[in-house]
Amino acid sequence: MKTIRVNASKEYDVIIGSGLLDSLGQKCSSLLGKGRAAIITDSNVAPLWLDKAVASLKNAGTDVITYVFPAGEDSKNKETLFGILEFLAENKLTRSDFAVALGGGVTGDMTGLAASLYLRGIPFVQIPTTLLAAVDSSVGGKTAVNLSAGKNLMGAFYQPELVLCDTDTLSTLTPETFADGMAEVIKYGVIFDKELFDAVKGGNVDDIENIIARCVELKRDIVAKDEFDKGDRQLLNFGHTMAHSIEKCSNFEISHGSAVAIGMVIAAKAGAKLGFSSEDCTDAIVEANKNNNLPCVCGFAPEALAETALSDKKRTGDFVTFVFPEKIGKCYLKKIPIDMIKKIASNV
Ligand SMILES: NC(=O)c1ccc[n+]([C@@H]2O[C@H](COP(=O)([O-])OP(=O)(O)OC[C@H]3O[C@@H](n4cnc5c(N)ncnc54)[C@H](O)[C@@H]3O)[C@@H](O)[C@H]2O)c1
Ligand SMILES: [Zn+2]
Repeated sequence: MKTIRVNASKEYDVIIGSGLLDSLGQKCSSLLGKGRAAIITDSNVAPLWLDKAVASLKNAGTDVITYVFPAGEDSKNKETLFGILEFLAENKLTRSDFAVALGGGVTGDMTGLAASLYLRGIPFVQIPTTLLAAVDSSVGGKTAVNLSAGKNLMGAFYQPELVLCDTDTLSTLTPETFADGMAEVIKYGVIFDKELFDAVKGGNVDDIENIIARCVELKRDIVAKDEFDKGDRQLLNFGHTMAHSIEKCSNFEISHGSAVAIGMVIAAKAGAKLGFSSEDCTDAIVEANKNNNLPCVCGFAPEALAETALSDKKRTGDFVTFVFPEKIGKCYLKKIPIDMIKKIASNV
């Protein structure tokens, strides 16, 4: 078991290990007192892990109510958000009660946003059950839902009270969903940590607890420096400018992790070609992607990718902040004029 203390506008622990769901109730009651728990989860996770979470809370003497929404990114919208808020209100939750997000990034992002809004803020606990949520979305306090115009356009920074990552829950993931999370792990390696990159580049990772812990430490450090995403936190967008375009161009048929994997290859190729990277990282990233069952190319036209990238919310005027790898283990932010995006996208 590993415990990592996050020091943001709120301090909290991220606890990672096998069998932790059994201690959920005891941990919540010692941290949050005797309030009621509202567990929010999706229709895939509910039949697998909800009973265990409910039992643990009830054994610790906590009253539990549960809300299950249809699984998938399509549910990450204002209708589901309002469904959760109405559910909390109908059940007369107070500020002494708390919400529990049991699921992947979709559940965590929506529950966090609902918790920030309901009664102007009630405490919430994250229980990430995908690798992506464990290494990325459950830590750092970004919450959101999608609007018709784009992903994550309505959200808030709102930190959890506790993140409890039971690595047993990852055992029921499909290989594709597990691979999606590995794309983010590879991303952390390229941005910050060659040792982490080397540990995962061959695939078949067997020490997932330590891998998750390392990623959480890296995210903790960047969130402590730049909680509100004005500077260095943007490094975490490595591979993501192109990934968002790829996701949109595919009508979200290509998963986020697959799109990030391809986006990292495009950024590495472009960095080398444009002379922004001291080392060509392309081959190393391609190898890591392949060994982790992730793609490296997509069939979209560079013009289409560039056009979609320019409508991204991260654009400021005629410039976009792009993340280039300098070498494996070090990336940097570069403000580039928007017409350079076309050159970058031509590296598909
Ligand atoms: N807040 C942040 O900082 C941040 C960072 C990265 C991504 N995100 C968001 O996270 C979302 C993607 O996260 P995700 O990939 O976890 O998506 P997700 O929550 O949709 O989970 C992916 C799939 O796995 C299923 N699932 C979850 N846990 C399972 C388990 N243990 N066993 C079997 N199936 C399980 C889900 O039902 C879903 O079908 C996106 O909406 C993205 O915008 C947020
Ligand atoms: Zn991502």
